[in-house]
Amino acid sequence: MTEAKLEAWHDETRSFAPSAEFAKQANAQPSIYDDAAADPVAWWRTQADRLTWTTTPTKSLEWDLPFAKWFSDGTLNASYNAVDRHVEAGKGDKVAYHWIADAVGESRTITYAQLQKLVAQAANALTELGVKSGDRVAVYMPMIPEAVVTMLAIVRLGAVHSVVFAGFSAEALSSRILDSDCQYVVTADGAYRRGAASPLKPAVDEALESCPNVKAVLVVRRTGGDVGWKDGRDHWWHEIVDRQSEEHAYESFPAEHTMFIMYTSGTTAKPKGIFHTTGGYLTHVAATHDYIFDVKPDTDICWTAADIGWITGHSYIVYGPLINCVTQVMYEGLPDSGGKDRWWKIIEENKVTILYTAPTTIRTLMKWGEEFPKSHDLSSLRLLGTVGEPINPEAWIWYRENIGSGKTPIVDTWWQTETGGILITPLPGITATKPGAAMTPFPGISADIVDNDGNSVGNGEGGYLVLTQPWPGMTRGIYGDPERFMETYWSRFPGMYFAGDGAKRDQDGDIWLLGRIDDVMNISGHRLSTTEVEHALVGHPAVAEAAVVGASDPTTGQAIVAFVTLKLSAEDASKDQSALVEELRNHVAKVIGPIAKPRQIILTPELPKTRSGKIMRRLLRDVAEDRDLGDVTTLTDPTVVNQIAELMEIGADVDDDLTR
Ligand code: PRX
Repeated sequence: MTEAKLEAWHDETRSFAPSAEFAKQANAQPSIYDDAAADPVAWWRTQADRLTWTTTPTKSLEWDLPFAKWFSDGTLNASYNAVDRHVEAGKGDKVAYHWIADAVGESRTITYAQLQKLVAQAANALTELGVKSGDRVAVYMPMIPEAVVTMLAIVRLGAVHSVVFAGFSAEALSSRILDSDCQYVVTADGAYRRGAASPLKPAVDEALESCPNVKAVLVVRRTGGDVGWKDGRDHWWHEIVDRQSEEHAYESFPAEHTMFIMYTSGTTAKPKGIFHTTGGYLTHVAATHDYIFDVKPDTDICWTAADIGWITGHSYIVYGPLINCVTQVMYEGLPDSGGKDRWWKIIEENKVTILYTAPTTIRTLMKWGEEFPKSHDLSSLRLLGTVGEPINPEAWIWYRENIGSGKTPIVDTWWQTETGGILITPLPGITATKPGAAMTPFPGISADIVDNDGNSVGNGEGGYLVLTQPWPGMTRGIYGDPERFMETYWSRFPGMYFAGDGAKRDQDGDIWLLGRIDDVMNISGHRLSTTEVEHALVGHPAVAEAAVVGASDPTTGQAIVAFVTLKLSAEDASKDQSALVEELRNHVAKVIGPIAKPRQIILTPELPKTRSGKIMRRLLRDVAEDRDLGDVTTLTDPTVVNQIAELMEIGADVDDDLTR
């Protein structure tokens, strides 16, 4: 993102005050900030009372930097808290999910009582397959109810789920399975995308060729048709789950029992297995879901339009909303599966009141035009949220005007896989919001913006976003790699959690996020490391060297631009260059997944390097964004840059599948 663009975004004087009507009924009242600030740890302890504990914790925080424990002498069961206790409280007939299929004309309504039975059956089936407390189970599934059921069944047993986004490749899946030694996989034969079946099971079969420890694979039949099958290892869901008892006696686990692992890109080629534990995480997602989305469980219909393969799905499709016993919409498809007005139809038909999505999707919907939302009644919506990347004020205003009838509050929520739940956000009814700003730390959260030396910056200044106190939902580490955890997050500024984001405090002291400051790209709200894509490229026989940058993109926020030098074999030399570029783009999609497909690949005779041999990524980013190149005196061969700039004239094409 260029400085000039950022400045244009930052109209600090434009703000939208909450309506008095909304403020009156809001779950969070202004005193919440002082209450939490008076004693944040004690405040979080009261939030933990949202959960039903088998053993009530007497401890709150134990902090031995970088390792935090929250509520450690308490015990509980996550799945009981999400489902069973609501049924016991007489809410069994309440709808948990209105599930809506892609463009294949299907839907399913699942009540809390039905969910309880489905989870019990799945837990019994997993037990039969051998899953026990502490075992890791990989989940590679489309957005179908069985995915949620699977996650709840796994944590019910005290096992650990590692959900891998179903858009990732076989290779990405196998490396994640191996890293945390998952011995079980739950998947589906395929998924639907814009009405067409696309297979998933072949990717699992390919991945498992290099995962000899996987003992069992449970497969949901979603699309039908033939699939490869390994007898003894593979089991159909309908054959093994459906015949199980609908009752399952749960066990309780300590608050610090590991609940799930979620892989996310870091600055190296190897994704990090971020793991979360039970009591603190559930407390955090329940409290944030309640106050930030202002949920009224008896009347609200929440729709978090994300995939369960990302942390947003974990925290605000599965655990937060279920702990709070709300009714949700869960949607399998893409924004235009079944037409460009599909989303608005879903909102109208289901009377959705709270919509939470990513800026990249908002920009796509905006591009399609206002006529689509205008043709539907969206008056049920009373709150909108965004997550995943900075939102440009233009998109924010469009969202509020066209989707929120010019009056709904918008919560721009900043958080990460590592933080477990939202940390910086307006509170509806309290905060006067500014388009493009995430505004204020959530109650009980201590965030700061610091300069290079770790000193707080003043109003009107920018720096690095840090968290200065632990919070309940924070990751407990990188699975199997405590040193990397310490080094990545806790050593840049001693004593502080380093988020990797740039941020600015405006004249009023409000926080604006400015994007990643490391080699992590944010493509459609999805994190990918430049090194990961470079590794994929140099894995292709024709590639000698590759340098990848995230260049700003009007729809996807950032897009991948790769600069590649070739070691041409006779065969490659005979190909025309555009065919080779296409081959390389597809190669990256195959190695990592379609989300990693570069928007543009520039074949260049050389890469610009400093005298010490480091690739000058800043410069390449400038070239990719067509900016003034600034100081190039440390380059070994400054003319390389001009050659690259000329090569950039080759047109780029954007993959609209990225908006998933
Ligand atoms: O750069 C920030 C950006 O997304 C990163 C976290 O990505 P991930 O772990 O995949 O989680 C995404 C969903 C929580 C952050 O380091 N980010 C997230 N939310 C915002 C944001 N950037 C600006 N504004 C946001 N609201």
